[in-house]
Amino acid sequence: MKATWILPDGQEISAEVPAGHHLMEAGVNAGVPGIIGECGGTLSCATCHVYVDAAWAEAAGAPEDFEDAMLDATEAPRLDRSRLSCQLVMGPALDGIVLRVPEV
Ligand code: FES
Repeated sequence: MKATWILPDGQEISAEVPAGHHLMEAGVNAGVPGIIGECGGTLSCATCHVYVDAAWAEAAGAPEDFEDAMLDATEAPRLDRSRLSCQLVMGPALDGIVLRVPEV
């Protein structure tokens, strides 16, 4: 399965992501600048912040309550389609997803 990150300067990075892997880990493994994942995916750092591309917003769904609260602590501004990518798990519904990396 595939995910693509679009950097603030428009550069795109794509990677194969196995089902069940979360997209923070995939972004770090792909060397995506700005995806840090400092807490290892335990929802305590907000350094995996992404903006889900509009076309994928419905498939990605809405954040759970705790993620929603953490999204108020992101370094870059929170937008409608902000998510913490450690909470996005690759599966058939997200195959091909496009994530925009915030500018910080
Ligand atoms: S990796 Fe820390 S909140 Fe996502």
